[in-house]
Amino acid sequence: MNLAESVEAIFRKKFNEQPLLIRSPGRVNLIGEHTDYNKGYVLPAAIDKSIYFAIAPRKDRQCIVVAMDMNDEYEFSIDDIQVTKKGWPNYLMGVVDQLIHAQYMIQGFNCVFGGDIPIGAGMSSSAALEAGLAFALNHMFELRIDDLALVKFAQKAENRFVGVQCGIMDQYINIFGKQDNVLRIDCRSLEYKYYPFAFHNVSIVLFDTRVSHSLASSAYNRRREECGEGVTIIKTCNPEVDSLRDVSVDMIRKCKDKMDATVYRRCKYVVEENDRVLQACRELEKGDLKAFGMYMSRTHEGLSRDYEVSCKELDYLVELVQDDPQIYGSRMMGGGFGGCTINLIENNHVNDVSKMVTERYKQKFNIDLKTYITSISSGTDIITRKNHEAA
Ligand code: GLA
Repeated sequence: MNLAESVEAIFRKKFNEQPLLIRSPGRVNLIGEHTDYNKGYVLPAAIDKSIYFAIAPRKDRQCIVVAMDMNDEYEFSIDDIQVTKKGWPNYLMGVVDQLIHAQYMIQGFNCVFGGDIPIGAGMSSSAALEAGLAFALNHMFELRIDDLALVKFAQKAENRFVGVQCGIMDQYINIFGKQDNVLRIDCRSLEYKYYPFAFHNVSIVLFDTRVSHSLASSAYNRRREECGEGVTIIKTCNPEVDSLRDVSVDMIRKCKDKMDATVYRRCKYVVEENDRVLQACRELEKGDLKAFGMYMSRTHEGLSRDYEVSCKELDYLVELVQDDPQIYGSRMMGGGFGGCTINLIENNHVNDVSKMVTERYKQKFNIDLKTYITSISSGTDIITRKNHEAA
């Protein structure tokens, strides 16, 4: 039985009816880190690791949600939505809360979900929960919400209900992902462009540090504040500036004396990273994956030295592979302070590298590394009988 079938079977056993089935993917981000909340560019892709929902409407206002992988269940009324200490139901209730505040007419529902996106590894299992449920409710209750509005509801669920001030990247790619394509999102205009990313000799490999340093979410929010402080100072000489997206390295240099050294480095990183995304996309258009990967490696340097969101485990994983000619790029991915590195590795070299990195990492930190080989898949969608079999 595949994962979608397991979720469906549990639903049918518990609720004795036929559910709607939805697949909601995790994501990788090739380049463009910590730029989304600065209205910059990002280049994520949806992946073949997913959360599956089995869901059906109820006639009353109760919602029963079952987390298959945690063997746990939670019930709430759509008329009384409160944050719970339990954690996981908040991602779902946050979405319902957003729709209710926006005056959408919804009823209660029964839902079972489960999947294979590792939690805390930086592949956005939380956005998969939020955007997946938003998509499911939109379809089930025929709310006619357009895709971009769904993305914004899912993001707001995380900002307002879960309390993480994340940008829009993860929820956006969850809905807009397309098989074999990366998506360049302009987080200022919210326009996007697909770039084919099907290099048959190269795999996207994630090395999971299996660490998640505490304070990650407060450090994340602090980075946002530091960028905001930078913008306020730059604005005093350049009133037209609204975000770091409107700023050049030259403008930051001119304000250097007025700025705290940390704020200066944070701003410089973001401005340089926006430029790297654009350059990297040009290399993709030329089909030059080696040049593309070089930008990824520079991103890691910036994240580690200037933005300071890396950690010793991530830095070590990047260092281990950085001079390998069969590895085109390697860097930490996502918010940082743990999670995975993303690596572009020639297919015939993946096993050897993974073995070497696993051994060295174990020697150094006494932690069992995990390797994930991912492929680029489509965004959230309904599972029909045809793709059900392939899921
Ligand atoms: C997390 C957030 C995203 C983004 C990344 C860093 O994944 O959810 O919005 O800011 O960190 O690029």
